[in-house]
Amino acid sequence: MQHFSLQLRVLFSSLILLSLFTACNPKKKTTETSTDSSTEIDSTQMNTSTPTDIHTFAVREDAKITHLDLKLNVDFDTKMLSGIATYDIEVQNNIDKIYLDTRSLTIENVEVDGQKANFELANEDENLGQKLSIPVTPQSKKVAITYKTSSTAEALQWLSPSQTAGKKSPFLFTQSQAILARTWVPTQDSPGIRFTYTAEVTVPKELMAVMSAENPQQKNDSGVYTFKMEQPIPAYLLALAVGDLRFQPIGERTGVYAEPSMISKAAYEFEEMDKMLEAAEKLYGKYAWGRYDLIVLPPSFPFGGMENPRLTFATPTILAGDRSLTSLVAHELAHSWSGNLVTNATWNDFWLNEGFTVYFENRIMEEVYGKDYAEMLALISYQDLKDEVKVMTEAGNAEDTKLKLDLTGRNPDDGVTSIAYDKGFYLLKLIENTVGREKFDVFLNKYFTEYAFKTTNTEHFLTYLDKNLLSQVDGSMQEINPKEWIYETGIPANIPKIESERYDKAIAAAESWKTETPAAQLETKDWTYQQWLFFLRALPNDLTLQQMDELDKQFKFSATGNNEVLGEWLVKVAHNQYEKSYPQMRKFLVNVGRRKFLSPIYGQLVANEKTLPLAKEIYEEAKPNYHFVSSSSIEKMIAEKEGK
Ligand code: BES
Ligand code: ZN
Repeated sequence: MQHFSLQLRVLFSSLILLSLFTACNPKKKTTETSTDSSTEIDSTQMNTSTPTDIHTFAVREDAKITHLDLKLNVDFDTKMLSGIATYDIEVQNNIDKIYLDTRSLTIENVEVDGQKANFELANEDENLGQKLSIPVTPQSKKVAITYKTSSTAEALQWLSPSQTAGKKSPFLFTQSQAILARTWVPTQDSPGIRFTYTAEVTVPKELMAVMSAENPQQKNDSGVYTFKMEQPIPAYLLALAVGDLRFQPIGERTGVYAEPSMISKAAYEFEEMDKMLEAAEKLYGKYAWGRYDLIVLPPSFPFGGMENPRLTFATPTILAGDRSLTSLVAHELAHSWSGNLVTNATWNDFWLNEGFTVYFENRIMEEVYGKDYAEMLALISYQDLKDEVKVMTEAGNAEDTKLKLDLTGRNPDDGVTSIAYDKGFYLLKLIENTVGREKFDVFLNKYFTEYAFKTTNTEHFLTYLDKNLLSQVDGSMQEINPKEWIYETGIPANIPKIESERYDKAIAAAESWKTETPAAQLETKDWTYQQWLFFLRALPNDLTLQQMDELDKQFKFSATGNNEVLGEWLVKVAHNQYEKSYPQMRKFLVNVGRRKFLSPIYGQLVANEKTLPLAKEIYEEAKPNYHFVSSSSIEKMIAEKEGK
């Protein structure tokens, strides 16, 4: 997750005031905050038995949704979703309103049990959007909301045909995590509130729709698709994609969706999906969601992957042609347990989703590809963590290097850093090393079983860990000291050390190139992509153009089909202004919308006065290809640099 650190480095490194670039102003939001929303947050915080989610207007203890029936029409001309969201609700206490989250939605009509209701839409809160208050009684059963989305719906990305692989049909996808579901469905958008759903989605006849649910495998003639998600999920796992899609099965329970021109490449790349699923089940119990499919989205997808239940959304940048980047599939698959089954109660506990998932991902990769492979992944994780902690600390953000976050008054996106992923991973690795793998696996199995379809938070987990594991292994609590990991900043001294021969070789090669050995004489035969990453990361930041030339001639970095290596190389290209590779850099930045790759490259370009204009020029060209998640990060970066 190194991208975040580089992004932060840029955000805080400069105070130069330049302001010619008006297009880069971050999206302006109204700053008015509805006053009753803050009283509501205060009153629910009194309830210590249930962790309060500060990123929702919903009050779960009073009234919650239990099932959603969604009827949606997808209009590519107006770039609008419109329809009716009908909820089954449970009103617990003697209250007279149910609260839902919305953002930039037009609410046209609300009915409660068939009767028109006088709903209220509060002023917009900068982080949370608009609170929708609907009058109910303890007897109320159904709420039906007629609504439509707006052109600023942050979850949605509408792609023109030219932005797809096939160039003939448009494409739409959603990204709901963390709190963007409310921009396309009025809902209780909290990870602590789960509901089942059914949906009927109407799309242009030549397209097909898929969701985080039971999916069609073929296009039909009507353009009307129906969906069912029988297991209760939180709103951040609601997902929809619409495009010219094909399906190809991989195993009995697995398969891939992609545009026609990508489908065979995707099926080849992900052929080991079934093996991964089996490995995962062997580790931590039966897969709870029926099928596990994956959809390859157009390159503008802002993440590597998103664990939408039954259907992982994935970036095409992992199609390396040699199955080398499939740890991402292991990661999203692992979320079927950590995250989707056992869910972080609030975004302050995000490490419970991601740290567990990186640990589980590592275990799956070890099962399928062996120990060496898993060790290299763990070392990449260590490098990312070290880098992130350094950058965040230097930027005055040390508080955010604690596993337990405090995102009060902030967007949960601020918590998406390497800390949750890699510091979380290393705490779990330390527990494993201390109590032994066997005991830890028994514990994890029990944990996933007991908390299935429930939420948990950091404090719950600590108590559970003590009771069910550490108290049974003498001295382990003192040795691990999980509270230091969770509530203190930085990297604790007891972080496990990972050894890897392949890593050592890559570092040795980088060292000897730095001192005397020409690139052509380095021993790099049979290197994995991780070794190339270690090699590049071990080089000095500042390289001469001759050195860049030598490396690129010898190792063809600018032409590599492995986007992890290319991304790392292009950071060097940008930093050292290696103009020979600018065409490749521009092409990459314009085509790829994955924030993890964009942030560090733009970070380098934006940090330097000389290359800032180039960054802005490329960004202008690329912007239509970026989802809100990515464009907002880049715009923030440029605005910070320009002192806006
Ligand atoms: N759930 C995350 C993506 C996410 C996190 C979206 C927070 C929005 C808010 C997903 O599982 C993830 O971690 N993706 C990584 C994959 C990587 C760690 C293998 C990514 O996209 O880079
Ligand atoms: Zn994840």
